[in-house]
Amino acid sequence: MRMYDIIEKKRNGQALTTEEINYFIDGYTNGNIPDYQASALLMAIYFQDMTDDERAQITKAMVESGDQIDLSEIDGIKVDKHSTGGVGDTTTLILAPLVASLGVPVAKMSGRGLGHTGGTIDKLEAVPGFHVEITNDEFIELVNKNKVAVVGQSGNLTPADKKLYGLRDVTATVNSIPLIASSIMSKKIASGADAIVLDVKTGAGAFMKELNDAKALAKAMVTIGNKVGRNTMAVISDMSQPLGNAIGNALEINEAIDTLQGKGPKDLTELCLTLGSQMVVLAEKAETLEEARAKLQENLHNGKALNQFKTFLSSQGGDATVVDQPHLLPQASFKVDLPAKKGGTVAEIIADDIGTAAMMLGAGRATKESEIDLAVGLVLHKKIGDKVEAGESLLTIHSNSENVDEVKEKLYASITISEEIIDAPTLIYDTVT
Ligand code: URA
Ligand code: CA
Repeated sequence: MRMYDIIEKKRNGQALTTEEINYFIDGYTNGNIPDYQASALLMAIYFQDMTDDERAQITKAMVESGDQIDLSEIDGIKVDKHSTGGVGDTTTLILAPLVASLGVPVAKMSGRGLGHTGGTIDKLEAVPGFHVEITNDEFIELVNKNKVAVVGQSGNLTPADKKLYGLRDVTATVNSIPLIASSIMSKKIASGADAIVLDVKTGAGAFMKELNDAKALAKAMVTIGNKVGRNTMAVISDMSQPLGNAIGNALEINEAIDTLQGKGPKDLTELCLTLGSQMVVLAEKAETLEEARAKLQENLHNGKALNQFKTFLSSQGGDATVVDQPHLLPQASFKVDLPAKKGGTVAEIIADDIGTAAMMLGAGRATKESEIDLAVGLVLHKKIGDKVEAGESLLTIHSNSENVDEVKEKLYASITISEEIIDAPTLIYDTVT
């Protein structure tokens, strides 16, 4: 087999065979195929697309390029949830203990944040003592005992994807549905879950800004998952404005605590119930979505979800007293309000710009090496569609430096107040199965 012929075949719009795809992925991962030939094939895929079979095959080949996590020692159907990334997306912190409280095993592999979106591990580390440095055996033991544990990403998961992503990043081939879908799904599948619930975001703060692109990506990922034998579904949700009210690590732990007591922001609670119901049904802990939702709601109000969160935190070294006394979480030295310059209705809170403002405060990493400040961030008091009076606080800035002029300027530029009547944006656009 020659890489030249594979490039030419795809360039001419033909579908590659399983053998050809495996030849490319194996050869590129082990260094036998040079970057220039891989780049040419990626560009051909960008223009010619891939069939459903090719997409499933390249995903499988990437999964098999490295370690695969074996979760078979965990009892029950393991359901994973993945979000394509957003600002103030606190859902994992809530969903993990919430669905675990219904007996769904949650074996979560998570990452750290980069750029304007936060990572679940960073957020959890705002709880004093909490750590994800546990062995695979401990991880499995904890899930069997408590139904929920979180571990950091293993070193050698999908090396083919790591290498290809790096190449796509410098060859203008990131933005391709078959390449994005196979990249995301390879990591999910290698992480070992039996079933996968995807939260595909759309809007200003999302990777897929347009609804149609988000739908195409969701459909592509669901098809790959089901083709490789993992029960997969997707929810398409709004990321035009940040999710919930809190953006920042300790602030989002606080928001998760509120939500786990049934006192959380409406949008965040609704998205958690939507995604959670799907997870519970896939895990066969309820027959219908309605039944699952009722059970989840019950556990938000009877203390079971909150207790599950406490057990989870302390089982990984965290100080669970923060749940009843959130003031023990890291606190910023300065709390500065952002008053509305005029009255009206909030028309826009551009999610990625708000994420960037939180990053400027130190809540997120500009580069992989940046240190983050767990205490800082933003708490919104108004969301799109809310009425506001001139001088009323739009949000509170939690900062560890006194001068927040630049952040304020960024925030004012990303929030629009209109004289017109504006509706709150749709939260859930679609469900793809
Ligand atoms: N996230 C991924 O993991 N892969 C992509 O290709 C794009 C976003
Ligand atoms: Ca939030």
